[in-house]
Amino acid sequence: MANNRRSFIKQAAVLTGAFSATSLFNQVHAEEWRSAEKRIAHLTPGQITQDEDFWGAIQRSYSVSTNIMILNNGGVSPSPIVVQQAVERYNQLANEGPSYYMWRILDQGREPLREKLALLAGTLPEEIAVNRNATESLNTIIYGLPLKTGDEVIGTRQDYPHMIQAYRQRALRDGIIYKQLSFDFPVENEEQIVKAYQDAITPKTKLIHVTHVINWVGQIMPVRKICDMAHAQGIEVIVDGAHSFGLLDFKIPDLHCDYFGTSLHKFLSAPIGSGMMWIKKEKISKVLPLLCDDNPQGPDIRKFENLGTRSFPIEQGIGEAVNFQLAIGSKRKEDRIRYLKNYWAAKVQHLPKVKLHTSLKPEYSCAICGISVDGMTPQQLDAALFNQYKIHTTAIVFENISCVRITPHVYTTIADMDKLVKAITAIAGQVK
Ligand SMILES: Cc1ncc(COP(=O)(O)O)c(C=O)c1O
Repeated sequence: MANNRRSFIKQAAVLTGAFSATSLFNQVHAEEWRSAEKRIAHLTPGQITQDEDFWGAIQRSYSVSTNIMILNNGGVSPSPIVVQQAVERYNQLANEGPSYYMWRILDQGREPLREKLALLAGTLPEEIAVNRNATESLNTIIYGLPLKTGDEVIGTRQDYPHMIQAYRQRALRDGIIYKQLSFDFPVENEEQIVKAYQDAITPKTKLIHVTHVINWVGQIMPVRKICDMAHAQGIEVIVDGAHSFGLLDFKIPDLHCDYFGTSLHKFLSAPIGSGMMWIKKEKISKVLPLLCDDNPQGPDIRKFENLGTRSFPIEQGIGEAVNFQLAIGSKRKEDRIRYLKNYWAAKVQHLPKVKLHTSLKPEYSCAICGISVDGMTPQQLDAALFNQYKIHTTAIVFENISCVRITPHVYTTIADMDKLVKAITAIAGQVK
C-alpha cells in the first residue's frame, strides 16, 4: 500500500514534469492533448484504441513524410516534433560554448533523466545507465560478465546478430561455449519455448540470452517464465529489449531477469542514437565496463557511462520522449499499435498466396508482422510495395526466416493501413 502510494506520488511528479511549464511537451501539446483526453474520458480502453480523432492529435505531433509511408519502425522510429526541437535547442546551446554548456549545464540533466527512465522502467535509478543504443548496452554486459573457459551460454539463431557475434567473440577470446536453439516462428505455445531452453541446459550453463520481441517477425517471448525456470537452476538471464521497451506495457522487474538492454530510438521515439542499460543492483559490481572506469568492479552503474565525448543534446532529448510516452500512456500505446497491426494483417491473411509469419494473438505479438507472397522473394515484395505504392518496409532473409517485415507506430493512420491492404491485395493478385 505504502509502496503503491509512493509510486503514485512519483508518477504524479513525473507527469507534472511532462505538463510543467518548462517542458517543451507542455508548451507544444498540452492544450490539444488535454482537450483530446477530455473528449475520450467516457470511452472504454477498447473504444479509445479505435478513436481516430484521439490518435489524430498524436499523429500530428510527428513530422513524418507525407510522400512515403514509413512501415519499418522496427528498424528505427522517428521522434515527435517536440523531441526534435529539444535536441535542436540543446544543440544550439551546446554550440554557444561546448565545454561550458555540455559539461556544466547539460551534464546536470543526466541524474534527473536517470530518474525519469527509472520511473518508466519501474526500477531504481541506481540500476539505469544511459548510453547510445542496444548494441552498446547489451555488448557491454556480454563482454563484462565474468564467464570463463567452458562456461555455457544459451541463445537462439533468431537473436540479433550483434549479440550473436559478441558471444562468438567471447568464445574466441575466453573459450566460453555458445549454444543456439532454433525456433520456427510463429510459436503459439509458451511452454514449448521455455522447454526448448530448459532442455539445452547442462551443469555448465551460466547464462541464457533472450530477445524479448524477436525483431525479424515480432514474436513475443515468454521472458518471465524463462527467467523463473533458469533461476531455479542458478542460471542468469540477459534480455534484449530493443523492440519491447516503449512498446509493451511492462516494468523491467516484471520480467524477473538479471540484465536488460534496449535502444530508446525505436518504440520510445527518443532521439536517434540513444539507449539504456539496466542491471539488477546487486549484480552491478560483477560486470566490468566495456570502456573504462577508475573502479571497474564497483557497484555504481555510472561506471558504464564513461563513453568519452558524446552527444549531450541527444541524451537530454530523451526526457521529452519520456514525457511524450507518459502523456500517451504505455498501455494505450501498446493496444493501439497492436490494433493497427491486426487491422491490416487480418484483412490480408486469407488472400491466396499470402502467408503471415507472425501470430495475431495479443500475447505473442504487437507491432511487427512478417508477410510473404508465394512466387515472390522478400526483396521483390519489398520493391513492389515501394516502387508501386511508396510504402517503405524491409525484406528479411535470415536463418529460417524469409518475409517482409511491416511495423506501424503511433503516428500510422488507419488510412495508411487501408492503403497497405490494397497494395498487398493487388500485388498478390498479380502473381501467376
Ligand atoms: C532485437 C534487437 N536487438 C538489438 C538491436 C540493436 O539496436 P541498435 O542498432 O539500436 O543498437 C536491434 C536493432 O534492430 C534489434 O532488433
